[in-house]
Amino acid sequence: MLDSYGRSIEYLRLSVTQRCQQKCTYCSKSSGFCIKDSELSAERLVMIAKACAQLGFNKIRLTGGEPLLRRDICEIVTGISALKSLGDIAITTNGQLLKDCARDLKQAGLMRCNISLDSLRADKYKEITGGDLQSVLGGIHAAQSCGLDPIKLNVVLIKGKNDDEIDDFIELAKENPLEIRFIELMPLGDGGQEGINNSEILRQREWLRPAECQNSSQPAAVYSAQGFKGKIGFISPISHSFCANCNRIRVTSDGYIRPCLGSNLEYSLKEALEGTEDALKQCIVQAVTNKPKGSCFGQGFKTNRKMNRIGG
Ligand code: 5AD
Repeated sequence: MLDSYGRSIEYLRLSVTQRCQQKCTYCSKSSGFCIKDSELSAERLVMIAKACAQLGFNKIRLTGGEPLLRRDICEIVTGISALKSLGDIAITTNGQLLKDCARDLKQAGLMRCNISLDSLRADKYKEITGGDLQSVLGGIHAAQSCGLDPIKLNVVLIKGKNDDEIDDFIELAKENPLEIRFIELMPLGDGGQEGINNSEILRQREWLRPAECQNSSQPAAVYSAQGFKGKIGFISPISHSFCANCNRIRVTSDGYIRPCLGSNLEYSLKEALEGTEDALKQCIVQAVTNKPKGSCFGQGFKTNRKMNRIGG
């Protein structure tokens, strides 16, 4: 469906939990302590997905928190994949638990996954995320082996922390059919850190060339180079706003629509979830209609929810 600025909104990012076993500083150090009670049930999540599908959405991504902490994650995926009009069903995960459930997720109808990987060094990975590098590498391997691809790896670069690994990540994309995505740090976490400007990375590596197939509705500018099996994506919400082509809304795991990541505007779905399918659809239409023209990232934006409570 079209919003007030003529953008076609067709992509739902549906958060299934605020909980996470990691404590990434750019997101929230305390998400492990989030309570479970406020989480929408699998049935409600599927109701929201169905309403969006009926409104013409064609892509759904499950996010969190860490979505694989939901014991009923396969049930959620099964319910969503039964909505036949969807062209894409994906998940974003930290990969820690992926090894043991990749196959079941694929069988339930999941098509692709994006995995957060902020360092290729075990000690640094632990320092940034609190997690175990081998577990996520095992998860990536498991996802590849059961055909959950193409796999994209999300890297949030932080000055003085992991920005010395840029070329290691690029090397990984050279040797493997993966897309490494450098995401500029957004002011949605615990703060106190400085990000890296993606234009700087590109300026210093002029040999990277825009990849042939660019999709205007995805925020990443995708690059590659001769002899590369994979690609490098640059997601630059800070240095290059992509609001004019934004095609998405987010739903939080406690039942609010956030039409824009860089705005605190939200619409509660709670009452509508108790009512008719039409009431639910009306609520979604209202949020899409009022989706802001652009994010407030350039204007000293202060979020009232950290990233784990919005959904990545
Ligand atoms: N800035 C940029 N990216 C972030 N992510 C989480 N928090 C932030 C932030 N403050 C990214 C993580 C995750 C994806 C869903 O969002 O890399 O993979």
